[in-house]
Amino acid sequence: MTREYTNRKIVLNRRPQGDLRDGDLSMLSEPVRELSQGEFLLKTIWLSLDPYMRPRMSDIKNYLQPIGIGKVIVGETVSVVIESKSEKYKQGDFVTCFSGWQEYFLAHESMDNIYHIDDQGLPLSVFLGSAGMTGRTAYSGLTFIGKPKRGETLVVSAAAGSVGTVVGQLAKAQGCRTVGIAGGAQKCQFLLDEMGFDAAVDYRAGDLTGRLKSVCPDGIDIYFENVGGDVAKAVAPLLNKGARVPICGYVSAYNSQDLNTAETPMDIFGALSEPPEFRYFQVREWHDQYHQITGLLTEKVLNGEIKYTETIAQGLDSAEAAFIGLLGGANLGKQLVKVADY
Ligand SMILES: NC(=O)c1ccc[n+]([C@@H]2O[C@H](COP(=O)([O-])OP(=O)(O)OC[C@H]3O[C@@H](n4cnc5c(N)ncnc54)[C@H](OP(=O)(O)O)[C@@H]3O)[C@@H](O)[C@H]2O)c1
Repeated sequence: MTREYTNRKIVLNRRPQGDLRDGDLSMLSEPVRELSQGEFLLKTIWLSLDPYMRPRMSDIKNYLQPIGIGKVIVGETVSVVIESKSEKYKQGDFVTCFSGWQEYFLAHESMDNIYHIDDQGLPLSVFLGSAGMTGRTAYSGLTFIGKPKRGETLVVSAAAGSVGTVVGQLAKAQGCRTVGIAGGAQKCQFLLDEMGFDAAVDYRAGDLTGRLKSVCPDGIDIYFENVGGDVAKAVAPLLNKGARVPICGYVSAYNSQDLNTAETPMDIFGALSEPPEFRYFQVREWHDQYHQITGLLTEKVLNGEIKYTETIAQGLDSAEAAFIGLLGGANLGKQLVKVADY
């Protein structure tokens, strides 16, 4: 290598019980070793913070592999190649990859899920949000499970977040009446003023079913589920016959002491006397369409059909606090950490 690097990384120290507490995560430093043939060194520019990271810190059955004790916290990044012994990845290339909460990552050209970014003049961070994983999640869940039709009413929870803002804008562009559920008057105003929602309801203000009913006079045809719990229960009585419910996540339960036994939206909607068409999905189900959907979303961001907002924490040291904030609703739009300049 032309110079020596020290990697700082955040690892799982012990499995959190409920909310993340001091001592659950630790910051460690280690020298980066020499590259072998086929390897390249990535420097993290942007780290994406996503709710799924919390369940992966626990030992959850039927979910993705838990993060091992002592292992780096998982996460997608935008990174730049700073040294390379690979023909495929050249110095100065920008990629998205799952290198986690760390400043450097020694990658090999044979690894999956490392993609060159075709930025088309957009800021690189967009490829972690609206034209990235959360955008693809919104597009896939809405299109393939929500199956929106002109004139239908769509409700989305966590509407002011990364997935929710894209769901609302895509559904609106397809002729749906869009209603967002979010925490607080400020987020609701943002949905109306900036994201083009037809109505927005603050779930913290009480009587959610009653207030949803008043803005959904024809009932709900599609409920895009991000939250679960009391929000799902408030939506359920308003679902029309033939309604579709893409279950994207249930962030309200992620800090549970035991997510294995927590109530899920599948439990809630499955228990209805006339259940809607619902199913839990993961964005990777449509991985074969990765490039096509990324291209489509990039185009929509470029032409202004999808607007985006980001909440940015500065430096890897701020990642843990920003992640706690994300689970508590401190973010507007996509939550990112700016790890380094480029
Ligand atoms: N299935 C998949 O492949 C996939 C992929 C990506 C994301 N997801 C899921 O999509 C959902 C949204 O993810 P995101 O990345 O876009 O996060 P996000 O919406 O940007 O951030 C999470 C938001 O959840 C809301 N929230 C937290 N606790 C809540 C509670 N108890 N009740 C109601 N709202 C609560 C907060 O907004 P408020 O201020 O409005 O409370 C917070 O801003 C999550 O469930 C995530 O797991 C699934």
